[in-house]
Amino acid sequence: MSKSLLVTGAAGQLGRAVIGHLLTTLKLPASSIIAATRKPEQLQELAAQGVSVRAADFDDPQSLAAAFAGAQRMLLISTDRLDRPGFRAEQHGRALAAAEQAGIQHVVYTSMPKPVNSPLLIAPDHALTEAALHGSRLAGWTVLRNHWYFENLFMSLPRILGSGRWFTADEGGGSADIARGDLARAAATVLAGDVTGRQTFTLSGARALTKAEQARIISVALGKPIEVVQVPLEGLIQGMVGAGLPRPLAEVLASFDTNTAQGRVAEVTGDYQTITGAPPQNFTDWVPAVRAAFG
Ligand SMILES: NC(=O)c1ccc[n+]([C@@H]2O[C@H](COP(=O)([O-])OP(=O)(O)OC[C@H]3O[C@@H](n4cnc5c(N)ncnc54)[C@H](OP(=O)(O)O)[C@@H]3O)[C@@H](O)[C@H]2O)c1
Repeated sequence: MSKSLLVTGAAGQLGRAVIGHLLTTLKLPASSIIAATRKPEQLQELAAQGVSVRAADFDDPQSLAAAFAGAQRMLLISTDRLDRPGFRAEQHGRALAAAEQAGIQHVVYTSMPKPVNSPLLIAPDHALTEAALHGSRLAGWTVLRNHWYFENLFMSLPRILGSGRWFTADEGGGSADIARGDLARAAATVLAGDVTGRQTFTLSGARALTKAEQARIISVALGKPIEVVQVPLEGLIQGMVGAGLPRPLAEVLASFDTNTAQGRVAEVTGDYQTITGAPPQNFTDWVPAVRAAFG
């Protein structure tokens, strides 16, 4: 009989892609998959295929016992509140406590590169969750330190293309970004595999690119000029506040650039290939997605 595999955050973009890989790439039976989400109504198509869709909200600990019952391995997808540093670690702590309680043997967690002592204001949530895994009674866990998605560009590109200028305080640091779909494939592979014990992988893309390099590649693809403009950190924050962002959120977003400036996302690892047996998609091959969205 196949193991019972649970994916939290199953209605999110990563969660849906992970379940897609479990079903299509790894060809697991739908009956071996539990999709836990705050929004079961959005996953009716999966339910129709035989996936067990269950209601689970980390802010409602009572929902978790029934949602996690019977699962052997669980992918804990980190939650999404960037505006409240510290809040996510509490949510993840509740999920881990419920996983222990439900007798889940192995938890896979989506973290970030170098989360400890990071200048990134959201890093403590990941560092604290990793620490909670270390201190847990779980038989095993795998931390996947996911690099930034190529797809994050979809949030910033409309403004960049509108002005032709890409403001940053990253001091020209490189970032080894990776396609979200590749991260989903790696997560699905670890979840469905037999890895036990305690392990940490860092899932980077094939190369670290500076914003100037990314801008050149996108400019060529779209035929639109993009100038990368280095500004001081406070200038970047002020720019975002001027565009209507609350200052605390602007500070969080700007701290991504400080993190990049310190070289904390530039490391290229072979962990993606170790897990999946394939190289990650490179940025130049991914850019047609940008062309389709903005060309
Ligand atoms: N590496 C990167 O560049 C990057 C970029 C963006 C985000 N992330 C992180 O990776 C995660 C997955 O990315 P994504 O692209 O799938 O983001 P997304 O589409 O915004 O999904 C947000 C995720 O958070 C879950 N969530 C939110 N509140 C929750 C709660 N109270 N209880 C349980 N789950 C909750 C959602 O689950 P349901 O809606 O199914 O309940 C969903 O899986 C994000 O949540 C964030 O932590 C990483």
